[in-house]
Amino acid sequence: MSLSTNKIRVLMVCLGNICRSPTAEAMLRKKVHEAGLDDRVEVDSAGTADYHVDSPPDRRAVAHGERRGLQMKQLRGRQVEVADFDRFDFILAMDEDNLANLRQLQPAGSRAEVALLMSYAPRAGSAEVPDPYYGGADGFEHVLDLVDAAATGFISTVVSN
Ligand code: 4NP
Repeated sequence: MSLSTNKIRVLMVCLGNICRSPTAEAMLRKKVHEAGLDDRVEVDSAGTADYHVDSPPDRRAVAHGERRGLQMKQLRGRQVEVADFDRFDFILAMDEDNLANLRQLQPAGSRAEVALLMSYAPRAGSAEVPDPYYGGADGFEHVLDLVDAAATGFISTVVSN
């Protein structure tokens, strides 16, 4: 068996795939790297909508993320597809709307565990990662704080066990 068959595959999902889910993707990737777990985890992101397919992340998300050492510029938007439910072990939604949309799409018997990302940080004070798109800088900083806590929780409960 090759090492890659043991990889934990994680898909972060929001609405547009230009603000929250690419931020969550880059944050988990950075923490996985810092923990020396690159061989164990693969991370991707997607949107439930198709508004921003092939677009880079929102420039505000990129700027705020870069200040915390995240690399996001190279990412491109894509929409969730049915095959993702068998490609990924975990599909993690930013909010309840994303979660409901994912549950509608999920084929019966598919392999992915579908959950809210913030279920991995129950003490962070928010069950959802709120959409920052129509707001100001604070919203993008809040997204970073939340996905930071959840990425840490995910690594300690799922990956490092
Ligand atoms: P995201 O934010 O779901 O965190 O990527 C949004 C990005 C774009 C739109 C909505 C939310 N939009 O309506 O275009």
